[in-house]
Amino acid sequence: MSIAFLNDSYMPIGEAKISPLDRGFLFGDGIYEVIPSYEGKLLGFTGHIDRMLDGLAGIGLVLDWTHDQWKSLCQELLTQNGNGNLGIYLQVSRGADNKRYHAFPEAVAPTIFGFTFAIPSSPIADRTAAKRYSVITTQDLRWQRCHIKSTALLGNVLHFQQGHEQGNDEALLYNANNELTEASSCNAFIVKDGVVITPPLDNQLLPGITRNMLIDILRKDGSIPVEERVVSMSEVHAADEIWITSSTKEVGAVTTIDGNPVGTGDIGDTWIKAQTLFSNHKYDY
Ligand code: PDD
Repeated sequence: MSIAFLNDSYMPIGEAKISPLDRGFLFGDGIYEVIPSYEGKLLGFTGHIDRMLDGLAGIGLVLDWTHDQWKSLCQELLTQNGNGNLGIYLQVSRGADNKRYHAFPEAVAPTIFGFTFAIPSSPIADRTAAKRYSVITTQDLRWQRCHIKSTALLGNVLHFQQGHEQGNDEALLYNANNELTEASSCNAFIVKDGVVITPPLDNQLLPGITRNMLIDILRKDGSIPVEERVVSMSEVHAADEIWITSSTKEVGAVTTIDGNPVGTGDIGDTWIKAQTLFSNHKYDY
């Protein structure tokens, strides 16, 4: 059984228990992170912790842990769980009060939880081996603070389930103006005429660490133009390629949208170049 961390100790995950009055359980009142690692090497660690600290500050949850403390926790979780290809899940909730009351409690310690889970081995830019993702499109009905990586994921879960029930891997989401926001658990990119385009960061989407790494890697390489700008759904449907990015997928090539082929219906050449560059530079972050 995997080893988890809860509050101040490590234990088999089956022995980790929280109070039913924990605000993470009652209200989804918490922040989480997912950090990928391959053979003990963490990807994008600083960016992930920076985002978590931004999220905690954004919801007024005070916790004085430093990056070094988070790193020690991550490394200990990896060691205790055998250093394979592991995602590290970290969660901080506003803690367990002695009553259910919406206002923030005073003098209640946050609940800190971490565990690991197996992730697929490092993706490689090989058209024959790569997973082909299929997506549906649906209006984004989540809240207006999607830049916060909140544990309150019901809106995301319902959208993901919509795609899943129709045999798809993800749901691409669009706002009331028919503009792409992101996917229910990933960021989204399109490629048109060799240009990589993704929606700009705002309250409608999570500032994905994989998204940010990919944009930075592509810009530093310079051979593929990248634009961060509003993307209409008509552009999405007319795209040559569509990608979804997340910590556990890296750059995923979408080949089917609403039952129709994306571009030629096969994985595109720009994806090959982008995933190759990502694989070559991902440990720089
Ligand atoms: N999902 N957008 C949403 C809504 C997400 O939930 C995620 C990540 C992303 C991509 O972010 P990153 O590149 O930092 O992983 C975008 C995680 C992996 C999850 O909830 O399991």
